[in-house]
Order: sequence, then C-alpha cells, then structure tokens
Amino acid sequence: MAQIVLKEVVKRFGPHVAVKGVNLQVRDGEFLIMVGPSGCGKTTTLNMISGLERPTSGEIVIGGQMVNDLEPGERGLGMVFQDLALFPHLTVYENIAFGLRVKKVPEAELDRRVRAAAEAMHIAPLLAKRPAQCSGGESQRVALARTIVTNPSVFLMDEPLSSLDAKLRVDMRTELKRLHERLKSTFVYVTHDQAEAMTMADRIVVMSRGVVEQIGGPLDIYRKPATQFVAGFFGTPTMNFLSGEIEARDGGLAFASQSLREPLGDALPADLAGRRIVLGVRSEHVEVGRGKTPGRVQLIEPLGNESLVFFEFGGDAPLVAKVDAETRLRPGDNLTFGFNPAGYHVFDAQSGARLN
Ligand SMILES: Nc1ncnc2c1ncn2[C@@H]1O[C@H](COP(=O)(O)OP(=O)(O)OP(=O)(O)O)[C@@H](O)[C@H]1O
Ligand SMILES: [Mg+2]
Repeated sequence: MAQIVLKEVVKRFGPHVAVKGVNLQVRDGEFLIMVGPSGCGKTTTLNMISGLERPTSGEIVIGGQMVNDLEPGERGLGMVFQDLALFPHLTVYENIAFGLRVKKVPEAELDRRVRAAAEAMHIAPLLAKRPAQCSGGESQRVALARTIVTNPSVFLMDEPLSSLDAKLRVDMRTELKRLHERLKSTFVYVTHDQAEAMTMADRIVVMSRGVVEQIGGPLDIYRKPATQFVAGFFGTPTMNFLSGEIEARDGGLAFASQSLREPLGDALPADLAGRRIVLGVRSEHVEVGRGKTPGRVQLIEPLGNESLVFFEFGGDAPLVAKVDAETRLRPGDNLTFGFNPAGYHVFDAQSGARLN
C-alpha cells in the first residue's frame, strides 16, 4: 500500500508562505506529476513528502500512517534529485550498490540486485566506469538504477531530466513511463515542463503560488482547464485570450470585445450577461479562411506537419491559428477568420475561474 495523502499542508519560510494548504491524494501505483512555474512550491511539497522538510501545519499520511514526525529514511521512499547526486569517486556499480551496502544486504544478493537494476536501465556495460566517464543520459540512468535497486514502493523525482538535452529528455520520458508500467510503484514527479507532465502522467497536479489550481488527467486538463492560469500553462502555442464582456443578444449570450462579437451558444447560464470575461480559444480552434472577420498576417511559423499563423485584427491582442503546412499565406497578407465554438473556454476576468 503506497497511497499518499496530504491534508491542508502548509509550509512557511519565515514570513513567506511557500505552500498554502495543499490537499492531495496520490493513488497507489499511479504516476502523479506536479507541475507549475518556478517558485510555485513543487519542490517544497515533494520535500515534505520525503521528509526533507517538515510541514508548518497539516498532515502527511503514507500507506495509512501519519509520517509528519518520521525521518526520510523511515518512510520507505526512493528519491531521484535534479542534480542526480552521484558519488564521483565511486564506480557506477558502487553508486548503484550504495543503498544496499548501507542496509547491510548480503554480498551475493547485493550483486544480483545491482546487476538486475543495471540491466533494467540498459547500463550493464557501464558498471566499472565512474560518473565522470558517463554521458548525461547514462548518468540519469545510473541515478534511476540506484533508486530502483532499493525497491521503494514510492519514487519521488524532482526534475530528474532537467540536465539533459532536448532529444534525450524526450527519449527518457518514454523510458520512465515504461519503467512505471513495469514496476507499478507509485511515482510522484516534479517538473516545470507542461509537455513532460502531459506525456507521462496518469494525473497532473497544477500548482501556482503555493496553491493547487487543478488536479486531473492530462486530457481533462487540456480540454477543460479550471482556471485561466491552467489554460495558459498547457498547450503549445499558448492559448489565445480575448478580453471582453458577455452580452445578452437575440435570446442567447454573445461575447463582445473591442473589435468582434461572437455568439457563445448555450453553454453558459443566462445570468452571466454583463460579466467581464476572458475568452480562451486554442490555435486549433481558430479557423482561418472560414469566418468573416478580417485580419492581417504578421508572421508564419512552420512546424513541419503544420504551420502557425500569427495575425492582428481590430484593437484586440493578436491571435495565433494552426493551419496547413502548405499555407500560401505570407506576412502582410489579408485573411478572414472565425472560431469553432466547441473550443471556447470562458473565464471570469477577475478571478480567472472557468465559467463554462
Ligand atoms: N529554504 C528556504 N528558505 C526560504 N524560502 C524558500 C526555501 N525553500 C524554498 N523557498 C521559497 O519557497 C517558494 C517555493 O520554492 P520551491 O523550491 O518549492 O519552488 P519550485 O516550484 O520547486 O520551483 P522551481 O521550479 O524553480 O524548482 C519559493 O518562493 C522559494 O523562494
Ligand atoms: Mg524545484
């Protein structure tokens, strides 16, 4: 049983409140990813689970046991840190064996377990090398093997891929996901990279300024962001946001900004008329060439399989749309556009909370 529960967990550093009453349940065997911008409290939250930091108030329960007063070593957790923290003077073999030596595991069993962990992470040929002789990706695997070998029921990882180059990071995502499939242990993983969270997590916890903004599956979060912050954090390019007001019109509601007016369908309760809102529309729901609002191309960004068109119109902020890679549009060209109403995200202008 490796369920983790955080109840109203608060962490203060002097006057600064880094974590402001977080409630969270990590299910047994799930791959949970905490994501958010720098300084939002991810590492602090993870460190309170591991025992490296004590909560100022609130409870942390692991496998049914309240662990607030347990030392890190008494919590049965495995940790992988951002800087890997490999011992430079030890061989890869001894780095992996370290935790088992501390626990005085008999030599024959130790050897068998070190080799199995190295095999699992595809680093068996490196056992005699030292960390300085390994590439970034290899060192990454050594750090993982060193954790796997101790058989933890929970893996805690703090930005373990941040030191790798882009291609390797993407490869390691797949490997970590495979590892999780195989071990079926609970993974709690911290990153500021939304794409990493999206691709690996069973569930994502989005944090901002010490507060949990939303918890949900990757697709739920992408399709139904609970706040404007979450909407802007996930997805590339960043979601388009238009500021305006809800108007009652022809028996339905419409969105009115400085330079456009669009019906909002029946997804919103009628009492929202008059409300200041931010209308969110992802680039894939901006339809170039279909609607009748005129715009003017600023920039084309080819992505290979498709292209992004950045364009301006009226007095609102410029928009970005996804179009066919073969588009003939060029900077300075005129276009017309509309929105696919299925892609509307309506947020309260003041609180940022989702309204539809
Ligand atoms: N030991 C400390 N003393 C004082 N303030 C701290 C301490 N540790 C963290 N903080 C502050 O708490 C806040 C949260 O820090 P934390 O390290 O949890 O952020 P993070 O989300 O992990 O960010 P990053 O993505 O940059 O690693 C920050 O404002 C940070 O400056
Ligand atoms: Mg951090």
